[in-house]
Amino acid sequence: MRQKVTRRTLLAAAALLCSAGRSTLAAAAQRGRPATVTPLKTLFACRFKIGMAVDPNDLRDEVTRDLVLRHANSVTAENVLKPHIIGAREGVYDFARGDALVAFCRRHAIAVRGHTLVWHQNAPDWFFRGDRSDPVAYRALVRRRLERYVTDVVTHYRGKVYVWDVVNEVASLKDGEVYRDSPWYRALGPDFIEYAFRAARAADPDVLLFINDFGTEEPAKRQRLLTIVKSLLAKGVPLDGVGHQLHMTTPTDPDGVDTALTAVEALGLKNQITELDVSFYKDPQSCYTDAAQCLPSLRRGSQEVGDQLGAQALLYGRLYRIFSRHPSVQAVTTWGAGDNGSWLSTFPTRRLDLPLIFDETGLPKPAYEAIRAASSTA
Ligand code: XIL
Repeated sequence: MRQKVTRRTLLAAAALLCSAGRSTLAAAAQRGRPATVTPLKTLFACRFKIGMAVDPNDLRDEVTRDLVLRHANSVTAENVLKPHIIGAREGVYDFARGDALVAFCRRHAIAVRGHTLVWHQNAPDWFFRGDRSDPVAYRALVRRRLERYVTDVVTHYRGKVYVWDVVNEVASLKDGEVYRDSPWYRALGPDFIEYAFRAARAADPDVLLFINDFGTEEPAKRQRLLTIVKSLLAKGVPLDGVGHQLHMTTPTDPDGVDTALTAVEALGLKNQITELDVSFYKDPQSCYTDAAQCLPSLRRGSQEVGDQLGAQALLYGRLYRIFSRHPSVQAVTTWGAGDNGSWLSTFPTRRLDLPLIFDETGLPKPAYEAIRAASSTA
């Protein structure tokens, strides 16, 4: 008897093939290199891309390069695609480091996340120069510069970058305020966001366009970002998804992440986890303006560090379980590859912080084991 082929049976067959392929790949990886672990990209092959944020210089380090090649099928430029590097001077572009990263990724069939076109940090001054006494002319001037920059950069990387964080961290941190006060906001009001998205879409009709922010796991910050997202959608702005940075600390409650992913799905948008790491330290807010207020460094090899690594593994496991439950999550990127290359060793202050899934020598940490266990539910 012929069975009717429905979309559901097709999907079930595809899922079966995908998981069979995944176990074969995992087994082959184990057989070939007994001392190494199954690549993360294999564990989640049927679910989402695995990303790591690095710069071309980091790839000279063998530990970092090996981790990227072994585990990642997506790479985010940690810094080299930011405006202060590409566009330090008006009309003069320095694509050298960005191009080097893209070339490495193309050689190894790794997708590239573009990060980021518009950010309040490191926005070069030339964007905002001009005579402010004529507000209409000044606005038009800054808008033209913004659109020119976005058009040129997105055009340069057309077909090479699969998703852009068009704007980064535009939601306010303050109660009662939706948009973050920034040079962009002061020059153009909230419209700079719309201008950037429209210019990006015009330059590349196929690239995914994301709004990226931190703190989406917290209700107040999430509400502010969602207010911005809804207003963009209401205006027909071409927005494909929300990037959740997820710079976490061990006491973070992961349920807020679940809520954030669901809220974005309800708007019909995609999700990506863009900058995941789990710090040992939950600092007071004052630490970000006065390093003396930051928590003191833990001692390497101490009981506290052991406890933190355990708590970190627990949180990583819970997070990857949540990511796996949301088909809208397309990619999960950690902000770095191994603990040797994390920005948290120097930010917000110089101290021991081991926030990633692999240690400073590239070996898997307890977090890796927790994630591997979570992958069986993917
Ligand atoms: C950080 C980089 O990791 C650092 O090397 C650089 O000095 C500053 O920027 N949120 C973001 C990232 O969106 O771009 C930041 O990256 C980390 C916080």
